[in-house]
Amino acid sequence: MSNHILIEKKIHKFNKKIVVSSDKSISIRTILLASQAVGISKISNLLESEDVLNTLKTVKKLGIQYKKLGNTYCIEGFGLNGFNIQKKITVDAGNSGTLARLILGLLVKSKKRVKLIGDKSLSKRDFSRVINPLKKFGANIKSKKNLLPIEILGSDFLRPITYDENIGSAQVKSCMILAALNTPGVSVFNTRVSRNHTELMLKFLKYPIKIKKIMGNELITVKGLNQFKGFNYKVPGDISSASFFIVLTLLSKKSKIVIENVNVNESRVGIINILNKMGAKIKLERKKIYKGEKIANIHVKSNCNLKAINCPSTLNSSAIDEFLIIFLVAAKSKGVSKFKDLGEMNKKESKRLDLGVKFLRSIGIKVDRFKNNINIHGNPKLVLSKKYEMKNFLKDHRIFFLSCITALTLGGKWKISDKDSINTSFPNFIKILKNIGAQIH
Ligand code: S3P
Repeated sequence: MSNHILIEKKIHKFNKKIVVSSDKSISIRTILLASQAVGISKISNLLESEDVLNTLKTVKKLGIQYKKLGNTYCIEGFGLNGFNIQKKITVDAGNSGTLARLILGLLVKSKKRVKLIGDKSLSKRDFSRVINPLKKFGANIKSKKNLLPIEILGSDFLRPITYDENIGSAQVKSCMILAALNTPGVSVFNTRVSRNHTELMLKFLKYPIKIKKIMGNELITVKGLNQFKGFNYKVPGDISSASFFIVLTLLSKKSKIVIENVNVNESRVGIINILNKMGAKIKLERKKIYKGEKIANIHVKSNCNLKAINCPSTLNSSAIDEFLIIFLVAAKSKGVSKFKDLGEMNKKESKRLDLGVKFLRSIGIKVDRFKNNINIHGNPKLVLSKKYEMKNFLKDHRIFFLSCITALTLGGKWKISDKDSINTSFPNFIKILKNIGAQIH
């Protein structure tokens, strides 16, 4: 079956209000925390993408029942470590690094061996970042070269740990926090700042977790073995999905968009801070706080006067999934944009730094690369007219989205493979593009 799309025309001017898909990080966390709560949690607006559906399947395999009523998933938890594992089982995280890393944290006390597997992309990703702290807690873990498949067997003799998380990874931080929930005593993590949805959710659940800012880091203290009750949660829109429509609007002519009800947590809005430094004038309206999370409507207008940025690496973590699309803006901006210390990009669903540089060069943009630093020589006059074919990108959803937005804003005749990759995070991506006028075949 053909699994590619063709884009041969730029998008015409538009003026639209849209809703993007729900936040993936929050969706996965609500399911995992509901699996540890006492009683029923009701989660509405859950993202129904493959990563999230794999999270539901995983907790089900671990003995947690759920049903869907209308727009709401009802998940019944039996408290901390309330999984029901009778024999050795295998769980499949598919493409999701977040599910794979976080579920290991919840299995530190499992009674039976659990084998964790994933797809081709996830099987290339490094797990030493979570294996090391989990072993310190006392979990038994087997894996070859810190890659999947991983076997974990819990322990009855867990001990609280102190640990320096110095990658700035929310997956590592959340894995440790979830392990600490099931561990007696007080665990302390000195972490580099990264997305903080797990901490905010636990705070809203009145769980004893404390966060203190110390010299740019966050010191997180978690007291283990406290139960919390089932909860209600309505998942807001995902800024990572919104980012492609922000850039589509910015780089199109005479267009406007309002993206409604998006999570704009400070630890996620790097893209807005970066693009506004480049002159984008993106605005947040109707701001509100929902269970500790900031939510707003994002207003964007076309802008053909964008300028280069010397991007401070302190913004890296808050835009880590958005750099590919930010690079496209740099390619259309005046001057040389500089980005530093982006090694983590190569540890994602594909080697995004390598592929991003290759992509920019393939559309005629000069890029200097020094290890994990790149300089992008912008060309505001850049227009494409040749044929382009995108394939072999390990089905990385964000590379697919980047290719579509490039085709729709810069032109050229594009054949883009692996359309199904959108199901990882944003199943209605193409439908929304078509609704605002994109011609996609
Ligand atoms: C995520 C954290 C980030 C991000 C990923 C989702 C999360 O990964 O890239 O898409 O939900 O915790 P790292 O924590 O490894 O940076």
